[in-house]
Amino acid sequence: MRLKGKVCLITGSSRGIGKATAVKFAVNGASVVVNYRVNENEANEVVSEIRKLGVQAIAVKADVSVPFEVKNMFKMVLEEFGKIDVLVNNAGVDRPKPFLDLTLSDWEETFRVNLYGAFLCSQEAAKVMLEMGGGKILNTVSVRGLSYCGRRGNIVYSASKAAMYSFTKTLAKELAPVIRVNGVSPGPSNTDISRVWDSKTRETAINDSYLKRLVEPDDIANAFVFLASDESNAMTGEVIIVDGGYNLS
Ligand SMILES: NC(=O)c1ccc[n+]([C@@H]2O[C@H](COP(=O)([O-])OP(=O)(O)OC[C@H]3O[C@@H](n4cnc5c(N)ncnc54)[C@H](OP(=O)(O)O)[C@@H]3O)[C@@H](O)[C@H]2O)c1
Repeated sequence: MRLKGKVCLITGSSRGIGKATAVKFAVNGASVVVNYRVNENEANEVVSEIRKLGVQAIAVKADVSVPFEVKNMFKMVLEEFGKIDVLVNNAGVDRPKPFLDLTLSDWEETFRVNLYGAFLCSQEAAKVMLEMGGGKILNTVSVRGLSYCGRRGNIVYSASKAAMYSFTKTLAKELAPVIRVNGVSPGPSNTDISRVWDSKTRETAINDSYLKRLVEPDDIANAFVFLASDESNAMTGEVIIVDGGYNLS
């Protein structure tokens, strides 16, 4: 019960890495807010799974890139739980396209969700956490954001995740010493994002990993449990890479 008594909001937790994180947080005793944009049924199923564990959970629909929806989400969380201890900025989109086919709206959509969404949610969370005298903001980054690991055919996503590295490290300085800000950087993971890859891209991702496999959502969730717990209290501005050694190649 490493998170007993903590209230945790995970954006984009109806599926994939966010869902696995929400469930692991609940297994560790946290009350959980499951956020989604469109998939209400999936979000409600995550909430039911969590409630069966004997902890509290609610689902909140909000597009993290829309300011008033984010404000409403935090209002609902405070009405329900009265506080927020951990925010995980996990909602993200991937729109792979060759460079010459990219449009400005591809850039805008990706940055709005992957980066501006994290800004909007972190600002609302920080207001509450500064008043509470503590809290943790955690980000789902990506190995694509490493300066040497961006993917050809995926420049927008890679650039948005590089920005998330800087956002994580700089926000840690801005909010210290009250709020700790850290992140997890997954390598290619077994979620809906990778399920649409063609077989060659998937095979290459597996072969380029030194552990010869995709990362499972639970692998990422384990790192988030550690960062959300008191065990990581000496850390801020850190991004843990969970990629089976993918970035070594
Ligand atoms: N999969 C990978 O290989 C990989 C690798 C590195 C990093 N990541 C990062 O990990 C995070 C989660 O990825 P995933 O693979 O688990 O993705 P996923 O399975 O596609 O799930 C995406 C989640 O984000 C939500 N979402 C999308 N846009 C949103 C918005 N504007 N507002 C609120 N929620 C939104 C979705 O909600 P709905 O269900 O309602 O659509 C869903 O819950 C992302 O930040 C991604 O960039 C993934």
